[in-house]
Amino acid sequence: MQNVLNYLTEHQPRFVRELCDYVRFPSVSAQPQHKNDLAACAQWLLQHCRSLGLDARLCPTAGHPILIAKTPRPKSAKAKAGKRRQHFVVYGHYDVQPAEPFELWKSPPFEARIEGRSLFARGACDNKGQNLAHLKAVEAYLKTGTELPCDLTFVIEGEEEVGSSHLAEFLKKNRAELRCDAVVISDTGMPDINHPALTYALRGIAALEIKVHGPSRDLHSGLFGGSLDNPAMALCQLLAKLRDKNGRVAIPGFYDGVIPLSAYERKQLARLPFTESGYKKFLGVPQLFGERGFTSIEQRTSRPTVEINGLTSGYQGAGSKTIVPAWASAKLTFRLVPGQQPQRIIPLVARHLKKICPPTVRLEVTSGHGGEPYLVSPTSARAQAALRALKAAFQREPVLMREGGSIPIVTDFKKILGADTLLLGLALPDDNAHSPNEKFDLGCFEKGMRMGALLWPELAACGG
Ligand code: BES
Ligand code: MN
Repeated sequence: MQNVLNYLTEHQPRFVRELCDYVRFPSVSAQPQHKNDLAACAQWLLQHCRSLGLDARLCPTAGHPILIAKTPRPKSAKAKAGKRRQHFVVYGHYDVQPAEPFELWKSPPFEARIEGRSLFARGACDNKGQNLAHLKAVEAYLKTGTELPCDLTFVIEGEEEVGSSHLAEFLKKNRAELRCDAVVISDTGMPDINHPALTYALRGIAALEIKVHGPSRDLHSGLFGGSLDNPAMALCQLLAKLRDKNGRVAIPGFYDGVIPLSAYERKQLARLPFTESGYKKFLGVPQLFGERGFTSIEQRTSRPTVEINGLTSGYQGAGSKTIVPAWASAKLTFRLVPGQQPQRIIPLVARHLKKICPPTVRLEVTSGHGGEPYLVSPTSARAQAALRALKAAFQREPVLMREGGSIPIVTDFKKILGADTLLLGLALPDDNAHSPNEKFDLGCFEKGMRMGALLWPELAACGG
């Protein structure tokens, strides 16, 4: 093992350069004009994996390709003796969120910039840096001729940021090849570099777009305004009804089935490093807001929410244009917690909106992607093994936490492959995931690789 760790230390500068190459691909899955960039990024990954000695291929989908890369399967004496080698899937994604608004970036989002110990680029932490850390850990085994104690299959997809639309079907078709003892994902966060974390719960998600239609065309607001409803106003009034003053989602039935936080969990969450004033300052808000009766950490990791992600209507250009717009639209997502399913929430919300929509406008609701919430025991033998690897790599006591973000495919890993997922995130709260000036901390990159290397003997020792 020492030679594996030494290899990682010796080759850090090259690994950083390789991460720079990886983040230069503008692999924005939400934007059709980047289709070829996703293909090029997948090709780069393919060549990279092959150069490490992995058995890699790209699997086309109706969307973006999925990369599969396997460690060489040894025909060792043990394997011949009939002892089953453990198999783990390492999941990641090479697609990234849109980089807009570009003008807020200190340097172009798809040109890697290193400042101090941070590498700035869209996708640096979410998720290229994190999945590359795992690839580099495996490279260290393969290039030092150190036998891996288990078999690994990397599954790196290009549609995570748009709901992983084609991955579940791929898992079903390739169930035999992907059957595994557990899935490992580094695509979540940790409170700070001194608190490595094992995340045992994620929120789910339900996405919808709504459009309020008014007059058949934009109208002069002086000539006609006052005699018909304004779709932008009607939309705002509708949206305002979705949340009450106590920060609760005001849709009947929304909280049905929600599994409450146990007293034990609340106690654990309260131990995470946090100050209200520091958090307020970090967010840049004059005052915090959230569901009454819960702490900020509980609100953003363990309680369901409604968010408006985008709001569009009328004239957005310079100066003013006096119109009653023909339409107004909003992109909404609901974060869900254990006990809530997107298949139930999406129609529930759609029906409620139709019910409260005034007859003066026409409402169109389009259902978007969904992802189920995830909750797994943090006390399993494999979770304990992961905690040991985190501790050894970071030289700090790891924490257990829940996260508010979503990785929809995690519940499919459970349903289709029967495997639990270990979430070993390397992103820091100020890494600006999904925001301008996204970065990845090079210390997290390095420690993440060490964690990746130390993890396999720990997990393999747990047995099947
Ligand atoms: N890596 C994130 C998810 C995440 C980040 C979970 C931090 C926990 C902590 C992932 O890439 C992501 O952003 N997912 C989307 C999913 C959606 C587009 C279906 C999300 O959570 O918004
Ligand atoms: Mn993301």
